[in-house]
Amino acid sequence: MIGVVTSIGFDIKPKAKQTATTAIRCQVWPRTYLRYASKVSMKKSPLSTSEAPSRYEHITSYNNFYEFAPGAGDGPKNNSKNFKPRPWKIKIDGNVNKPGDYDIDDFIKPYALEERIYRMRCVEAWSFVVPWIGIPMADVIKAVEPTAKAKYLEMTTLMDTGRFPMQKTDLLQWPYLEGLRLDEAQNPLTLLAVGLYGEVLPAQNGAPIRLVVPWKYGFKGVKSIVRIRFVENQPRNTWQTMAPSEYGFYANVNPNVDHPRWSQARERRLPSFIPNHKTEMFNGYTEQVEYLYKGMDLRKNF
Ligand code: MTE
Repeated sequence: MIGVVTSIGFDIKPKAKQTATTAIRCQVWPRTYLRYASKVSMKKSPLSTSEAPSRYEHITSYNNFYEFAPGAGDGPKNNSKNFKPRPWKIKIDGNVNKPGDYDIDDFIKPYALEERIYRMRCVEAWSFVVPWIGIPMADVIKAVEPTAKAKYLEMTTLMDTGRFPMQKTDLLQWPYLEGLRLDEAQNPLTLLAVGLYGEVLPAQNGAPIRLVVPWKYGFKGVKSIVRIRFVENQPRNTWQTMAPSEYGFYANVNPNVDHPRWSQARERRLPSFIPNHKTEMFNGYTEQVEYLYKGMDLRKNF
């Protein structure tokens, strides 16, 4: 269960100076597999933060991915070394005019890839800045033509105990599932990420494709997606199912609404052990997203 942060599972020794700060400069990143870098628009997105990205090591060594290991730390990295993100199918269905079953590479191909440097704030009060590579979700939604009945998107992770060993346990209710309201999914910030730092997503970050909604707590970012279903009713997301008094559907970053077991006022920007950042409303994305929640009580809709 997402709990009080007690374990720091990665190496926090100071390392040599960071050599790449964006996916584009990452063309000199020594160990990377530059599958996407050449396809990414060189234009800096106005939606990217000007904050410096966190180091690759930190983004890929401190993860939450219960299909590989419980709790945040280096378990997902260590336990996913043999994970194979191909072959991979993704299904789009529900209330759309153009449903489909795609091979992941055919699914990605028609869309322009963008780099988006976003803050990422976990509900456990740790944070990063990540240079994602991805497809704007709004482009996918436009292409599949939702019908008038489509009010929400429900996204699920692959169920495969061969590839995800912890799915043999009852640690969570599998498969991991998340949802967004259609208008949240259409917001220009919402991204389907297929890479970071110019290379394909490492397994521990949700290969081959995961959701990124930077104004929401990290648990909304469902990893290793195989299905996007357009539905009429609000889906019940995994963490809401596991602990409904602690985790809601909306999960907007909100420093004024504490988690029942800890404060959300501050966060520790990894690799810090101690809170060293003030948490901002909507993780600093108020201007882009506040229209979505006009008139809503965000204490009730947490
Ligand atoms: N998706 C799946 N399928 N399984 C998970 O356990 N953990 C969530 C989210 N997506 C999770 C998941 C949580 S709690 C967080 S904080 C983020 O992934 C962490 O993303 P990161 O490891 O890339 O930082």
